[in-house]
Formats: sequence, C-alpha cells, structure tokens
Amino acid sequence: MVLTTGQLIQWKQEGRAIVTLTAWDYGIARLLDEAGVDIILVGDSLAMVALGHSTTLPVTLDEMLHHAAAVRRGVKRSLVVCDLPFLSYQESTSQAIHSAGRVLKETGVGAVKLEGGHPAIVETVAQLTTIGIPVMGHVGLTPQSVHRLGYRQQGKSETDAERILAEAIALSQAGAFAIVLEHIPANLAAQITAKIPIPTIGIGAGPDCDGQVLVSADLLGLSSKKPPFAKAYVNLQEVITKAVREYAMEVRDRQFPPSNSS
Ligand code: KIV
Repeated sequence: MVLTTGQLIQWKQEGRAIVTLTAWDYGIARLLDEAGVDIILVGDSLAMVALGHSTTLPVTLDEMLHHAAAVRRGVKRSLVVCDLPFLSYQESTSQAIHSAGRVLKETGVGAVKLEGGHPAIVETVAQLTTIGIPVMGHVGLTPQSVHRLGYRQQGKSETDAERILAEAIALSQAGAFAIVLEHIPANLAAQITAKIPIPTIGIGAGPDCDGQVLVSADLLGLSSKKPPFAKAYVNLQEVITKAVREYAMEVRDRQFPPSNSS
C-alpha cells in the first residue's frame, strides 16, 4: 500500500521523521522504495542531475511526465510527488490544474509540488486541493527563481523571515499537505515547523523540520557540484569510474569475457 498524505500529517503529530529523497528513473526509485524512503520526489533538479542543464528552468512538463512515470513504476510503498516545472503553473490557475491533472493521470504519482508562497500561488494551491489534487509547497530558496535569488540562503533578515513564515502559514491554510523549506536559517525552520499543522521537509534548514530531503545524486556522490548543506554518504563517481576502468582494461587485455564462457 502506498503511503497517503493523511498518514504523513499524522506522523507529524506522532513526532515520526519523514525520510524524503529525489529520484529520476525506475532503477533508483526501486532502490529508494525498497530501502524504506517515505516520500520520493521527482524533483525538477533532474534537469541538472539527469539532463545536464545548468538550472532547473529548461525542463518541460512532458520531460517531467516521462521521468515521473518511470519512477512510479519502481515504487510499491513510497508516496511519489512530482514537481511542476517552471512555467507549467504560474500563468493561471487553469494552467496549473491542467498540468497537475496531467501529472496525476499520466504518471500515477500521488501529488505535485510547486514553488513559492505569494498570494497567486496560494490561490492556485487552494484550487488544486479543492479538486482533490494533493499539493506539497516549497518556500525559502526556490530554484525556479534562481535569476532573482541566486542559490543563497533566504530568510536571513527579519522582514524576509516574516514573509517566509507567512507564506508557509498561507500554503498550509490553502490545503497543502507538506512544505519543503529550502536553505533557510534553522531557527526560522523550527519556528515554521512549530506553527503549522502539516509536515515541513527541510533541505539546508536545520534539524528541527518534520522530515529531511536530499537530492539523491548528492547523497550518492554523483553530482559534479553539491550545495554546502548536502551530505554525500558514498562516492559513486569513484566506484563507477573504477569499475568502468577495470572493465575497459579487461576488454583490451582480452580477459573479459573469460575464454571458457559463451
Ligand atoms: O527539485 C528538487 O530536487 C527539489 C528538492 C531540492 C527539494 O525541489
């Protein structure tokens, strides 16, 4: 049985941490699901880690649908959430409904995520949740606004911190089931987490969020450049390069395949 958004909200009340990671294809999704990850996010960061773009902006809705469907096929238990990419929801509420509807109908994932917390986005979240589309919010550093914000920590000034807190409250009241808090001071994340009834999922937002998320390429040591708050638990770049070099050497030396194999 796939986890539901309702169960995750219940976990917040119970103080149970929510483990979240990103995935971009079937193989990685299957491993994350089998390892017990609670939420698998088909993040638009796949534009950078899987498609080689320098920001998340170029990835299209059709590309997200393609990756999300593959991820969903690899998952039995995790809740799969798919990012709505840049300009697939900001034009109007009806554009957002159309895009989010395609995500749910064509990929089988359980929810969408969209960035920002200004009133137009909050209104969109309210409309989506009213018609039964679960929405995860995302405030603080929002990478789709990289040309305005850069990749700098957000919420450092009192005014910015107050704005981000107000955005999180508004998204929660609009019906979001969880909110990603990206690259904000730990004390602000703790304050938001205490104030809203839905889970906060932190990335570069300190230890007091209800859950944590990392981009899997960063955790696995596959990224060429990872943010300062990410932790690599293994260096797969080294592992893969070593294996490929060994294979190449054996092919060139005619050691692989062995002479007694067919
Ligand atoms: O696109 C993504 O991977 C994300 C995470 C950083 C939360 O939005």
